[in-house]
Amino acid sequence: MAKLPIVTLPDPILRKLSTPVERIDDELRQLADDMLETMYAAPGVGLAAIQVGVPRRLVVLDVADEDEPRQPLVMFNPEIVALGSQTRLHEEGCLSIPDFRIEIERPSSLMLRYIDREGEPREMDAEGLLATAVQHEINHLDGKLIIDFLSPLKRDMVVRKFRKQARATT
Ligand code: NI
Repeated sequence: MAKLPIVTLPDPILRKLSTPVERIDDELRQLADDMLETMYAAPGVGLAAIQVGVPRRLVVLDVADEDEPRQPLVMFNPEIVALGSQTRLHEEGCLSIPDFRIEIERPSSLMLRYIDREGEPREMDAEGLLATAVQHEINHLDGKLIIDFLSPLKRDMVVRKFRKQARATT
């Protein structure tokens, strides 16, 4: 397994729409494993393929507590089938937007469909942190970022800050 470099703001690839995976082969399984290693090292609870520069519909997640055994999830073509009516507020961060956090209100439960690492179709109910993380990662596949929950003015301020940082380090 290998740790991959994470793409950060303002890289325009983060706005790309990711395309569905048609066949899960060894190369995609390797990518998923590398993404898990990258996510654990960061550390983070979720990572979308686009965040390592690959515009395919693949996300990895693990919302287990630090003192619990790992519960890695690999999801190809994840799709939300139904959203619950209750919401939960969570302060979210994003590995592509270092040192930025924002409270976002999202549905607190959902039902989703995806294809697992072995290529098997799965259905899953998610709630709490997992429901939040799934929605955050699926947003990535559609080119949507947590800064989009800000007002346009505040969003521009954050993007400008990252642009300046990127210029300063290159
Ligand atoms: Ni993110």
